[in-house]
Amino acid sequence: MAAHVLVFPWPLQGHINSMLPFAVALAGAGVHVTFLHTEPNLRRAAATASPAARLRFMSVPDGLPDDHPRSVGDLTELAMSLNTTGAAAYRALLDSMLSAAGSHAADAGAAVGVFPAVSCVVGDVFLPFTVDVAEELGVPALAFHTASACSVLAYLSLPRLTELGEVPVSVGVDLDAPVRGVPGMEGFLRRRDLPSTCRRRPDTHGIDPALHILAGHAARSSGARALIINTAVSLEAPALARIAPRMRDLFAIGPLHAMSSAAAPASTSLWPEDEGCMEWLDGQADKSVVYVSLGSLAVISLEQFTEFLHGLVNAGYAFLWALRPDTVGASQSTVLQEAVEAAANGKARVVDWAPQRDVLRHRAVGCFLTHAGWNSTLEGIVEGVPLVCWPFFGDQQTNSRFVGAVWGTGLDMKDVCERAVVEGMVREAMESGELRRSAQALAKEVRRDVAEGGSSASEFRRLVGFIKELNV
Ligand code: UDX
Repeated sequence: MAAHVLVFPWPLQGHINSMLPFAVALAGAGVHVTFLHTEPNLRRAAATASPAARLRFMSVPDGLPDDHPRSVGDLTELAMSLNTTGAAAYRALLDSMLSAAGSHAADAGAAVGVFPAVSCVVGDVFLPFTVDVAEELGVPALAFHTASACSVLAYLSLPRLTELGEVPVSVGVDLDAPVRGVPGMEGFLRRRDLPSTCRRRPDTHGIDPALHILAGHAARSSGARALIINTAVSLEAPALARIAPRMRDLFAIGPLHAMSSAAAPASTSLWPEDEGCMEWLDGQADKSVVYVSLGSLAVISLEQFTEFLHGLVNAGYAFLWALRPDTVGASQSTVLQEAVEAAANGKARVVDWAPQRDVLRHRAVGCFLTHAGWNSTLEGIVEGVPLVCWPFFGDQQTNSRFVGAVWGTGLDMKDVCERAVVEGMVREAMESGELRRSAQALAKEVRRDVAEGGSSASEFRRLVGFIKELNV
């Protein structure tokens, strides 16, 4: 029977940016793919026209009113609504796809335009119902983790961390104390490098309710037919080796955006990309610009914005700042943009949303001030650009430790937001030959992983075979 995979990401930019190139790569390998958005995201996505003949987009409601902010700040309401309304709509859709495609089910040589019956689901680890419902309906399901293997391992280690009293991390304890509860990371992981949900909330001193939910999601991956992670062995072999025995199978197939089979997918952006900044970069000298972006979810205070701004201006380099209009609380984005342009005296460009992968590939970019979201980290690594990390939440705390202490391709500014530190780290990232050499060497290794015959490319091929052999 021809394979048809239903791919369902958490409806957030970072998850779509990882799982859509995966869907494109699958379609390129001859598999039919239905990529499931939520209704508001399907309306926003630039990519409603499919970038591949075997790939189509569908949607389910997320259950929230149209004017709900959804993805910024508190994600609890979105999560709850997805787990109820979203899950019910997904079950109904999958059920109807199975019955409607019944007539095609025996069609071994399905034509490109004819989608055979769904033979497999690949669901985001953050939506465990995707796997449970599929298996209940008789469809084999795999789980996909869009974050780093090191953060997955940290979540899987929660029982041990709790037993050792290392988690939850109480307010006021020494955050530089080493952590012993995550295997293989004893030499460099500190309390401050654990996923941010491991810390007690500074306001109430209570446990972050997301901690057990996220750890539970990671643990439940072991029930899926396999776990797919968007990472590469040259980055995270030790963590992958610790995760593998806990899963039924494990595929490390990243960085997916750099896979040749996923080349040139349509834009994955939920915001319009400001292409004007590419022309601005064309006018700058090689490796002379600092690119600044805190991803799709981070919200900072006006004080933090001011410290970043002064640090960047004082470092003296031109900079391009992708500043989403909702980044700085309720502040007016045009006022902030004008503040940046005035302070930088013509040496800065601010956009709401940049074509980030193209920006990082541009010869003018010398370093990347990032929140260390996993996609941004991978995108910076693939281009060999030194990183200055200011992790905001979740896995970013662990990713940035790997950048600073394991790969040596950047600096970790974690838990500090002061202009002098921003200035010093940006200068070092722009000027240090050692950081640049390490970043470029790592880029070479990772590019080898995704090239024909490399470990990620071979694992992707194995995954396609695995999917084709699954029987509904
Ligand atoms: C969060 C997590 O930190 C991440 O690790 C997890 O896997 C998904 O959710 P997010 O804030 O979305 O991530 O950051 P990141 O994972 O870096 O993804 C942001 C994406 O938006 C990147 O692919 C980046 O290229 C893109 N982006 C960002 C743009 O295209 N333009 C911009 O201006 C800013």
